[in-house]
Amino acid sequence: MSSVFASRSLNVIDDLSISERRYFFTKVKELKDAIVANDEKVLDSFRINDPDFGIYEVFLEDSTRTKESFRNAANFHHVKVSELISSSSSINKGESYADTFNMLSGYHNSIFIVRSKVEGLTKWLSEECTEYAERNNLPYRPAFINAGDGKHEHPTQELLDEFTFLEDIGMDFSSIHVALVGDLYHGRTVHSKADGLRIFDHVKVDLIAPEELMMPESYIEKMKENGFEVSIYSSIEEYLKTAQDPAKLWYFTRPQLERMGERILQKQDILREAITFRKDFLPYLKEGTRFYHPLPRHKEHPTIPTWLDKTPLNGWERQAINGMYCRIVLLSLVGGKIGDDYVPVPGDHETDRRTEEYIIQVEPSKDKKNKNYSEGVRPISDGIVIDHICKGDDPGAIRNHMRLISSILGLDDGRGGEWVSRGSDGQYKGIIFRPGARPLERKDLKRLAAVAPHCTLNIIRDGRVAEKYRTHMPPRIYNFDDLCCQNDACISNPINGEGVPASFYRTPDGHFACAYCGRFHTFKEIWKKRS
Ligand code: CP
Repeated sequence: MSSVFASRSLNVIDDLSISERRYFFTKVKELKDAIVANDEKVLDSFRINDPDFGIYEVFLEDSTRTKESFRNAANFHHVKVSELISSSSSINKGESYADTFNMLSGYHNSIFIVRSKVEGLTKWLSEECTEYAERNNLPYRPAFINAGDGKHEHPTQELLDEFTFLEDIGMDFSSIHVALVGDLYHGRTVHSKADGLRIFDHVKVDLIAPEELMMPESYIEKMKENGFEVSIYSSIEEYLKTAQDPAKLWYFTRPQLERMGERILQKQDILREAITFRKDFLPYLKEGTRFYHPLPRHKEHPTIPTWLDKTPLNGWERQAINGMYCRIVLLSLVGGKIGDDYVPVPGDHETDRRTEEYIIQVEPSKDKKNKNYSEGVRPISDGIVIDHICKGDDPGAIRNHMRLISSILGLDDGRGGEWVSRGSDGQYKGIIFRPGARPLERKDLKRLAAVAPHCTLNIIRDGRVAEKYRTHMPPRIYNFDDLCCQNDACISNPINGEGVPASFYRTPDGHFACAYCGRFHTFKEIWKKRS
């Protein structure tokens, strides 16, 4: 298998680079044209055609379209297609996901299609089952396709949504203007768009939802970081009456009642009204407007009413049909059948930043002044002083955080103290003094940078600052027992009992995102709660 796509997992849409996704869409178009033309030769060029090649569907959450389009796509390939009936599986006896899927990997299955409420599950499984395959000398590496994980992502839905948009704008990647309407808070299909729409050179997104259903701030931030123009409206009515330039492409989602808390459920009728299309809106639409929906629609309260089905606005039926074509092509790529002709583009995938330095040593003598830190009235002769902690926060928050830093670095025993001071700029900052403390080791420095970025660490010897370091946020944080993603739905949260070590990466706007579920955390939030 020489293709870069072979045995690749798709956990989030960005697991495929922009250039890889653009290639994917050209292949989907090729397949769809061949289906329309009944060109068996071209269709055969996509087929895995191996009765021993195993594709396994595991749907731990309900589905019709994703499950059935994948099943039909897998059948297209003339391969072994299996399904785990989760309601009668040993998962219900308390077996871990890793054990279940390792076992299934051993039964000659190469691709797993997994839907779950647990976020980040396929990422974890792809790591675990790769190690299992290596340990057991399996002749293949199992690949995992995320068929929707909780509120997180739905990358294959994203692929079929984008393909359908592309069909309607002439397969042109130069720009897109799309309105996202509905439950943008809980809907994973719109979350995938924050990275998914990067395939277009210029992106304009109008978000239409009442406050309770508005897209989480982290995804809006991500869209802005990705260079998207983002506008926000609280209802369709407001959008059509105030927007200077309404979009022609409208992407609706249903209110995800099954993911809502009681507080929002009580207001569901009012909220639904704001995101449901009405007849009197029709005159405000631009010529050529098209509606899309990942489906299902709610049978009693569809946000796209059924009287629109027979109008030219209907893009959602073709969108659903495209789902099978996109999934056929994805299986062809991951199965190693096609993709050899793809020419990787430099920078396709972000470079590994693990080597980036985040503890910078500075010359104490060149610093403003090599001040003497004191232990009460006496100067500190040997020890450490951590300065500039949480500069700009309020004093109470600084004190709380200094307690966390002290605990995380194991500085709770011994002499010393903490105080909050106010600089000439009027801003508060925290200082931790630890006379007699041993100098921090490399691993401790990484913990310090993670829990107290933008502080300075002074190593005091003989009453002078002998070494001085400035900390910056590390690009990745992992391998510490006391890390914890705060998202209960995340596979790495201890509540899920899977024993997945938490791991975070730095985001461009200075957060730590969970490597599994993508949840943004501040540097104060990535730690297990302390009693
Ligand atoms: N669009 C979508 O994911 O539909 P299902 O929930 O029916 O799979």
